[in-house]
Amino acid sequence: VGQNFVTLKEVDSTNNFLKNIVSNSKPVPEGTVIMAESQYAGRGQQHNGWHAEPGKNLTFSLLLNPAFLPVVNQYDLNRAVSLGVFNALQPLLGPALKIKWPNDIYYGDKKLGGILIENIIQGSQLKHSIAGIGINVNQFHFPGHLPNAVSVKQILHRDYDLKVLLSEICSHIEACYLKLKAGQYLWLRDEYTKNLYWLNETRNFKSNNTVFAAVIKEVKPNGLLALQKQQEEVTFNLKEIEFLI
Ligand code: BTN
Repeated sequence: VGQNFVTLKEVDSTNNFLKNIVSNSKPVPEGTVIMAESQYAGRGQQHNGWHAEPGKNLTFSLLLNPAFLPVVNQYDLNRAVSLGVFNALQPLLGPALKIKWPNDIYYGDKKLGGILIENIIQGSQLKHSIAGIGINVNQFHFPGHLPNAVSVKQILHRDYDLKVLLSEICSHIEACYLKLKAGQYLWLRDEYTKNLYWLNETRNFKSNNTVFAAVIKEVKPNGLLALQKQQEEVTFNLKEIEFLI
């Protein structure tokens, strides 16, 4: 991952850029990384945008071709990428770093980074997967509509070299991706689960306009969030539940 590497000064979204070249032009090597200094239409989960001050943060996308992955194990790709990003940042930032289900990177109660994976499916096979990653690195001030954001610089009080961090993230993603390729799903599930934000803590959630207290117990193999709510286990997908932080 990252052997084939392109930096763009400005692009709409590195995910769009990579998706276009993968679908339109000659074959792109697996592991290709497209990084942008600035995105004018960065995209996040659930139709949100992705904000990053030009030149300050990491915004990049990488290409994976997980045709080997059975459909039932598709959520494990998300685990591998999330865990790779987490493993790269954890030595730098310590135990306050967590993975917020399904794939946000949190430091304490604030968001340090996000991941947007987009799949290109042919027949029933996952042909290409474009993993877009945004990490707040050297940005010190965030706009008022993002009170929840935090950066490496706000935590460590110094600038961090973007290229060094990028190469750490690429090698950790590669290591996790190789585990995925080797079918080591249980290892991935274990490592992902034990680093989850709010794991085994009683916290408030909101679903169907109702607030309730519950405890995150695990993430099901298929990616559903499993909560213990009083005496019962309840599961949710991304659109069904909100964390009340
Ligand atoms: C999220 O937390 O909602 C996911 C954010 C993903 C942002 C990254 S930045 C690089 C890549 N290009 C995009 O347009 N989005 C992803």
